[in-house]
Amino acid sequence: MSDFSDRILGWYHQHARALPWRGHVDAYAVWVSEIMLQQTRVDTVIPYFERWMQRFPTISSLAAATQQEVLSLWEGLGYYSRGRNLHKAAQVIMTEFAGQLPGEMDQLRRLPGIGRYTAAAIASIAFRQDVATLDGNLRRVFSRVFDVATPADTPAGEEILWNLAGEHLPPGHAGDYNQALMDLGATVCLPRKPLCLICPLGGLCQSRTQPESRPVLKPKKLVPHRFKLAAVVVQDDRVLLALRPDQGLLGGLWEFPAIEVETLSGDDWVGTMATRYGIVLRQVSQLAEIQHAYTHFTLTEVAWVCELISSGNQPGLEWVARDSLGTYPMGKVDRAIAKKIQRQEK
Ligand code: ADE
Repeated sequence: MSDFSDRILGWYHQHARALPWRGHVDAYAVWVSEIMLQQTRVDTVIPYFERWMQRFPTISSLAAATQQEVLSLWEGLGYYSRGRNLHKAAQVIMTEFAGQLPGEMDQLRRLPGIGRYTAAAIASIAFRQDVATLDGNLRRVFSRVFDVATPADTPAGEEILWNLAGEHLPPGHAGDYNQALMDLGATVCLPRKPLCLICPLGGLCQSRTQPESRPVLKPKKLVPHRFKLAAVVVQDDRVLLALRPDQGLLGGLWEFPAIEVETLSGDDWVGTMATRYGIVLRQVSQLAEIQHAYTHFTLTEVAWVCELISSGNQPGLEWVARDSLGTYPMGKVDRAIAKKIQRQEK
């Protein structure tokens, strides 16, 4: 074992965080946790993980659920393709792997939603295979300890970092080694103001005097700002909702019928709504203005209470009882609008 892995394993045995998926012997629980932890902090994930394991304790219970149930449980966690892919992968596992999550890297990587990082995390933690992994936390730790100057978010930088992770892996302890580095990155080797004084790798770290200069990353692209107008149409205590297509942002979630506009006032949006949804509306009053930041753009959405003048029979639109809005999975913006409508009723 290298000095590096000795130190990190020693530290982990004393400082490992007690996390709910760590007590599980079940590979399924490890898989669920790794998917939820992609792009999402541990504190946010814990209650979702616990609810999920209660509602879907086995792969077969997940495979048998509807997409709407799955997305409802995922609501608020973001990056909804993760939930859709978990569901699809559970169905593949039922038909192709007799209900057992496979333990080999190449089989794991063929399942929807599992890339190199997640496959390696699952294989090492749940199946005790000697494979290294690399997430954002590990990338930061290795960039600092080995003072990697190549941008970490380029193919060349990634290759250097994956190799470093592999070179220091202690055979027989990959699961602990990977999770130790995840914990160190989350609690000590912080992006800003890292706690170098208590770091077990302090004596080895080549960027100890200027840790915040690593990792080197490519300059960030500016994110554009977008505008949307949404129609809130209520009739006889029922509300008109639209189902978003399965693919893409917020795929498979429900929303208030809406269109993107150049400015919040200029467009003939009522005309566009008629073409897009087959509904003729009269704009009545503004209900809400909501700001939200997605990964690739920021959004201002204004919801208008509208009166329905006439409608055809449009697929994808559904009248939903105001009381049951909670059972239709939505993104944060639409959920804020829905809550406003439900409050108005009381
Ligand atoms: N982040 C991603 N996977 C993790 C794990 N298994 N433990 C802690 N943090 C993580």
